[in-house]
Amino acid sequence: MSPFLLTRTLPEDATDAALRADVLKGLTRTPRTLPPKWFYDAHGSDLFEQITELPEYYPTRAEREILVARSAEIAAATGARTLVELGSGSSAKTRHLIEALTGLRTYVPVDVSENALTQAGQALITERPGLQVHALIADFTARLPLPETPAPRLVAFLGGTIGNLLPAERAAFLASVRALLSPGDALLLGTDLVKDEEVLVRAYDDGAGVTAQFNKNVLTVVNRELGADFDPGAFDHVALWDAGNEWIEMRLRSRAAQTVKIRALDLTVDFAAGEELHTEVSAKFRKEGVRAELSGAGLGLTHWWTDREGRFALSLSTAR
Ligand code: AVJ
Repeated sequence: MSPFLLTRTLPEDATDAALRADVLKGLTRTPRTLPPKWFYDAHGSDLFEQITELPEYYPTRAEREILVARSAEIAAATGARTLVELGSGSSAKTRHLIEALTGLRTYVPVDVSENALTQAGQALITERPGLQVHALIADFTARLPLPETPAPRLVAFLGGTIGNLLPAERAAFLASVRALLSPGDALLLGTDLVKDEEVLVRAYDDGAGVTAQFNKNVLTVVNRELGADFDPGAFDHVALWDAGNEWIEMRLRSRAAQTVKIRALDLTVDFAAGEELHTEVSAKFRKEGVRAELSGAGLGLTHWWTDREGRFALSLSTAR
């Protein structure tokens, strides 16, 4: 078998249909909302890579610190022969884990971006002869048709991306991950932790304005894909801490009263001056909350590792 296989589980036009449905639903409700998954076109993914290098944005570095320090323990605890990585992107941080998993036979990166999958996959098979890479083009929030691969399997969901889901979506997501696991398999989950409000807000409202550009990029995506006429300059980037829900919210605040047309949907949307379009939540967690959410999905927490400053956590859990 070829060491690199690519399977598309999303029809070519699924993305377009999903974007239309999300934009129609999100722009006709109150408050107006666009889901964060539409940030990540090529430019948005590039802006996100820039965010991970900002001095204020600590999660990527904190998670990498944990992976460097703990990959050997993760390998020993799981003995994984298959690694499934949900939302793998460039697979950069995963390198440490892959290197530590000495018994690894198959790596299954799952992402909506075919480019990221092909680049990362091709690089890996050259570095690790004998490793089978079976990349899946798929939306990890949907039901995943995983290929038959050797057990035990480790499913990794890194970066704190679970925080971009609302609580009910997280429960559904964890239940679908649980359904992929057999006895002996495990989930490695990255979660950003509750901390000082100022540190959190700065991480989502950096001095260089990269996160503001990233936030406004969703408008450019809707302009290009659905023939809309958003003026990104007519909105201000907003990042705030919701203490009750313990999540960061990103919004785009309309600087003035304005009308936007979305041609592909035959839709006209009026924004009042100061009206806010909700674009992302990024939930922050505590150990007991993570334990409870995992438990609710039939997963038992077995390990909990944080960086030295206690900003970010990786947890390992197994099917009960
Ligand atoms: C996709 C979860 C890694 O919520 O921190 C970064 C996305 N949004 N800055 C996060 C994001 C604004 C990010 N993750």
